[in-house]
Amino acid sequence: MSGPLSSAQNGQKERELDVHHLTLEEKASLTSGGSFWATKAIDRAALPTITMVDGPHGVRMPRGEGDHLGLSGSLPATCFPPAVALGSSWDAELAERVGRALGREASLLGVDVLLGPGINIKRSPLCGRNFEYLSEDPIVSGVLGTALVKGLQSQGVGASLKHFAANNQETDRLRVSSDVDPRPLREIYLRAFERVVKDAQPWTVMAAYNAINGTFCSHNRWLLTDVLRDEWGFEGLVVSDWGAVSDRVAGVAAGMDLEMPACGGRTDAQVVDAVRDGVLDEAALDAVAGRVLDLVKKASERPTRPEPVDADAHHALAREAAARSIVLLKNEGGLLPLDRRSRIAVIGEFARTPRFQGGGSSQVNPTRVDAALDAIRREAAGEVIFAPGFACDGSGDEPGLRAEAASAAADADVAVVFLGVPLEDESEGFDRTHLDLPGAQLDLLEAVRAANPRTVVVLSNGGVVLLPFADDIPAIVEGWLLGQAGGPATADVLFGGVNPSGRLAETIPLRLEDAPSYGSFPGELHHVRYGEGLLVGYRGYDAEHRAVAFPFGHGLSYTRFVYGDAAAVQSDGDVLVSVPVTNAGAVAGREVVQVYTALDASVVQRPPRELKGFALLDLEPGQTAVAEILLRRGELAYWDVRVDDWVLEGGEYRIEVGASSRDIRAVTSVALRGDEVARSLSMESGVDEVLAHPVAGPLLLEALERNGQATDEHALRVLGMFPIGRVDGFPLPYNEALRIVGEASS
Ligand code: BGC
Repeated sequence: MSGPLSSAQNGQKERELDVHHLTLEEKASLTSGGSFWATKAIDRAALPTITMVDGPHGVRMPRGEGDHLGLSGSLPATCFPPAVALGSSWDAELAERVGRALGREASLLGVDVLLGPGINIKRSPLCGRNFEYLSEDPIVSGVLGTALVKGLQSQGVGASLKHFAANNQETDRLRVSSDVDPRPLREIYLRAFERVVKDAQPWTVMAAYNAINGTFCSHNRWLLTDVLRDEWGFEGLVVSDWGAVSDRVAGVAAGMDLEMPACGGRTDAQVVDAVRDGVLDEAALDAVAGRVLDLVKKASERPTRPEPVDADAHHALAREAAARSIVLLKNEGGLLPLDRRSRIAVIGEFARTPRFQGGGSSQVNPTRVDAALDAIRREAAGEVIFAPGFACDGSGDEPGLRAEAASAAADADVAVVFLGVPLEDESEGFDRTHLDLPGAQLDLLEAVRAANPRTVVVLSNGGVVLLPFADDIPAIVEGWLLGQAGGPATADVLFGGVNPSGRLAETIPLRLEDAPSYGSFPGELHHVRYGEGLLVGYRGYDAEHRAVAFPFGHGLSYTRFVYGDAAAVQSDGDVLVSVPVTNAGAVAGREVVQVYTALDASVVQRPPRELKGFALLDLEPGQTAVAEILLRRGELAYWDVRVDDWVLEGGEYRIEVGASSRDIRAVTSVALRGDEVARSLSMESGVDEVLAHPVAGPLLLEALERNGQATDEHALRVLGMFPIGRVDGFPLPYNEALRIVGEASS
């Protein structure tokens, strides 16, 4: 925070921070940025500015005072694993520690709000910013997002939960309307936001660029006020994504508190005029300006002299987080962990020149970057031979590089091949158009495997890639983008110093065409229709019984876990699931126990299974422990469009406990009483709805029989969906139908 005085520093000035002491012009000016990264100061009121910078996996503080665009780069900061990696750790405690470390660094650099975390759902594997997002599932996104926000804010630095909402692609991102039905919107795209807002109260929420069903998020009153504040109880400030405001006056009326970046006074004047012309209620401006003041006050409460940051300790934390994020996809014949004494051919430029983060606003200037090749050389006791195999930018003598790599592999006991997506192919601002690794890399792999079948592939990628070689290569390590300490973390996993425990937070498909959003991504003519509805990610692959390369939740360990019988009991309205798990192998390891639920006979469409909770168990060899997973009642509810509310449907819920969405190890069930939903009947209600009504049901049955209508099972099935009052005389005289509906509502 920078500026003349904060309220905490000068009690006398506190009074002046009240919005009613500001002029109309001052209030309007307060609700837009003063520069690219800061709010405006009001000197007369001794009101300082607030600094907000990216985010999310490191602090990107622009270098020079006047360098508002960050053109001359940013100050060095720890580059923690981007969300694509951290999401795969499924580890909330770790995410909270990363959040705390981010908060300490931000605080030291004078940052008041760090722009993150990003918790949008990975709707399509092609989304260019998937590396900035946690998962295709709202529970994983919600749990880890909550942890990151709590950690960050524990240091007196605010989070900016982004991008709110349904911002799931880069194509046409500033203009596109995400056209989503109410159920997927609530159950998939808003669910993680709801959880983080309720559990962690982020200081700010960032309104996304796109529109939802035709209304831009930055002036969407339903989204920013009705849902976010009135339903969820959000107490913080809504900031626009940088350049997201297309109608400032409508934004103020909708509850969009702060336009970023600076508007040069242009839209401030529009707000002033709108109030003067009576188009905008001044009370609406007071509310948004008041929330800017609240944010300034919150930031002023942080200690003025922050603790120094231990860069080495943060690098070590980045390494721990990276190692926990790595997913061991395949390990045939126990090829991993590597024998330290073996002769190892390390192949692939990414081993020497790490791909550790994505492009765009989240790009951090790391304090250092450690390559996997150096770490492997340090850890290995035998000879390590390196061959680059390809150039990151695709240049160079391909056949020559390939031949050199094949000969290195032939001379070695094992070949470790680092493949991945080039940096220029993965960035904010555009979506990918395919999921393929570069052809030169696939050719290289084929040549290496032919020279030495004992081949391990290590991947560096921000979004999933197709793995056409998955059947032929014995060991595959999904290394995502691991941040600045990803190199040593990879060596930790390769040599077994860390037993891998990452799990896929997104499905790896066999073909792009299999993705549920295929065909309705990225839309056209400024609209994208979320045609797959609820069937996002594994929900869709499972519903369509599609084979996948590696399923959601999958990840191997160097040990083996055996599950006992699962039990589920009700606990204060929630459901507590427990299952004993034994480490049946020879080394200590961590299992991520996942709980999926299903309700077969339902009034609404349900995916075959949905993750509702998970727990981590660290087990010594031979040890058994009971995993306890609490499934929140609210998470089991569906969004009922008839009453515009969450409804828990009564019934026997199947509870599947497993090691992935396609590796269910124990099944149990729990009977839940549903919510009483008062749905009023009308003459448009179907016969089945009237029959289900406690008062009207028996009256209708009696009247049908009296009027000579058949009431056996078949007849009622045929009649069931017919509106009771459409046709006079069928199934009842109009007046009788009217009487029954009237009785039900009296
Ligand atoms: C991005 C945000 C980012 C902001 C500030 C926008 O283009 O969408 O995620 O926080 O810029 O850099």
